[in-house]
Amino acid sequence: MTDRYCVFGNPIAHSKSPAIHAAFAEQTGEGIDYTAIAAPLDDFPGAWRRFTAEGGRGANVTVPFKEAACRLCDTLSRRAQRAGAVNTLILGGNGQTHGDTTDGVGLVRDLARHGVNLAGARILVLGAGGAVRGVLEPLLTAGPLGVRIANRTAAKAAALAQDFADLGDIEGGGFDDVGKGYDLVINGTSASLAGDLPPLPDDLFAPGATAYDMMYGAEPTVFLRWAAERGALAVDGLGMLVEQAAESFYQWRGRRPDTTPVLEALRRAL
Ligand code: ATR
Repeated sequence: MTDRYCVFGNPIAHSKSPAIHAAFAEQTGEGIDYTAIAAPLDDFPGAWRRFTAEGGRGANVTVPFKEAACRLCDTLSRRAQRAGAVNTLILGGNGQTHGDTTDGVGLVRDLARHGVNLAGARILVLGAGGAVRGVLEPLLTAGPLGVRIANRTAAKAAALAQDFADLGDIEGGGFDDVGKGYDLVINGTSASLAGDLPPLPDDLFAPGATAYDMMYGAEPTVFLRWAAERGALAVDGLGMLVEQAAESFYQWRGRRPDTTPVLEALRRAL
């Protein structure tokens, strides 16, 4: 029987994950069936239970279920414990559910694809919500000189930095004292969705800096347009999406797909 996987979200109809995993399966010859499922907002554990009862072996989890998925797991990877969120569920042979999060490693691999060297880098992260919490562990363990978190609600950035202070030089605050001369600025706010740009100074970027937006679309986000005008290399989050999927696929199947052709096809279809 074909092994079943899915992505849970709500809404989920426009998810690119089924197409990405179908491409991975074709490329590797792994016979998997991967669908998108809209889980009920008030009963994520029930959706996962039903799926596994019908032969489901694993799942991706997206908005708004990443924290609920984390809570139902019997065991968690260290990076998922740190994130307090899970984007990958794995059903073990013993019937237990293991949770992992692959978003952070997806971001770090996409940055590597674009030639960004994290070791020794001065990094600014905009935002202090779940998306940012999910990527801090791999960013900090890549050996940057320092990570600054800036958020509209400064206290949230300070508290988040505190939670990760054991992993490296990290501090948090508001946008008014954001600093300047960063090698990498990552936008993890949802401001782009509203077409908003956090208030940022013109001298934010060091020469040769990269601006990364975790969001993507057919057109560059407001943040990426603003960054490109100030000389930064502007990169959107489509590569992160493909890389996190590849890491999930590896966790389920033990095979690493070649992400480049899959990313190129997605880019053409945007
Ligand atoms: P996610 O899971 O996507 O991280 P979230 O936890 O709701 O979602 O976090 C959204 C982030 O985007 C927060 O950092 C939020 O700032 P606040 O903590 O001050 O609310 C930020 N954000 C959302 N809209 C924004 C805007 N228009 N300008 C600046 N920051 C914004």
